[in-house]
Amino acid sequence: MNQNSNFANSSIAAHGWYWALASSELATRDKKEVDIAGIKVLLYRTDSGRVVGVTPRCPHMGANLGSGTMESDGIRCGFHGWKFAHSGEFMGTGSGDLHPKSNCDLASTKNRPCDHDGLLKQDSKPRLRSFCVVERYGMIWIHTDHTHREQSFPSFEGFLEADSIGVPGKPTTRNCHPTLVLGGGVDEEHFNFVHQKTTRLTGQLRFEVKRLSKSSIAFKNVAPMRVTGLKGRILSALYGKVLHYKVTYHYASTAFAELGFPWMPLYCIFAYRPTSSGTTEGLNIYVTRKRNWGVFTFVAKVLAKLEMAFAHSILAPGGREDAIIQDRLQFEWSPWAFGNPSFSTFVDYVNEQPSFKLKN
Ligand code: FES
Ligand SMILES: [Fe+2]
Repeated sequence: MNQNSNFANSSIAAHGWYWALASSELATRDKKEVDIAGIKVLLYRTDSGRVVGVTPRCPHMGANLGSGTMESDGIRCGFHGWKFAHSGEFMGTGSGDLHPKSNCDLASTKNRPCDHDGLLKQDSKPRLRSFCVVERYGMIWIHTDHTHREQSFPSFEGFLEADSIGVPGKPTTRNCHPTLVLGGGVDEEHFNFVHQKTTRLTGQLRFEVKRLSKSSIAFKNVAPMRVTGLKGRILSALYGKVLHYKVTYHYASTAFAELGFPWMPLYCIFAYRPTSSGTTEGLNIYVTRKRNWGVFTFVAKVLAKLEMAFAHSILAPGGREDAIIQDRLQFEWSPWAFGNPSFSTFVDYVNEQPSFKLKN
């Protein structure tokens, strides 16, 4: 670990899936520009309902494509009419030319992008940068690395997003780096101190860590429940011997948490995105399984709402204290930071992720 690594670095963020907008905020044929820590992305929804993400700047002369026209197979710039496919490929000029003229230096033969008549060669056509965009759990997500081509988005173990209902909470802001907020969920020393309302009943947390892939890591609580008095006995009868609490991080940008009763786990996604100044915009998305109970489906819907409210009530204690601490946090590297092994594994994982510089 060093001071140039990703963790808590106010000028760097990990590349990953970051939330952009709620799905409901982008209607068919709508265009909206978003900024994720200086990475500008123009999002638009096609007639078929697909959401596309491209760089807003036209590679011809820099017009903003937000004022261009959406067509069935691409977007056309408003300045000279150049058209780009949803994938970013060049499709033609305003006059239909497939090979736009370039002003390359005819005197130089080295790396010349055009033929002698000034037309661009086939392999050096302009291109619009495109981003992987998906819609999951009621939100539109962008992968900040434009070379990332996998549409697959993380999911909870045991069920797919299509079989779930996701309800985003209200966005929050924190005056510190996203990885400091993200790591709070598995910082045992912090959890066992600030979240005592929870741990007093359930016992202190201790994590078993499992690396799932380069971009994913899971932390599972293995500490036994505290069984004292009647309350303790009731709780351990409900929760089992160990409080079910598991956090899986993906791309160091989201945390998928499972908690509560092992026979009815509650699910929540903690999604934190960086701003250009290194602060954090956070969103909690409560997730529950869809149940099709025929004529009793309305009962299932009420149950889902109760589950989400319950998940919120379990996660809420200590939230106010977290906010006050995070807003005034001035993290600096010290020999005492990351003394607990599971948290230091989290920091190592964050530092291994590909990253990008935040632009002011
Ligand atoms: S600036 Fe976009 S077509 Fe010219
Ligand atoms: Fe906390």
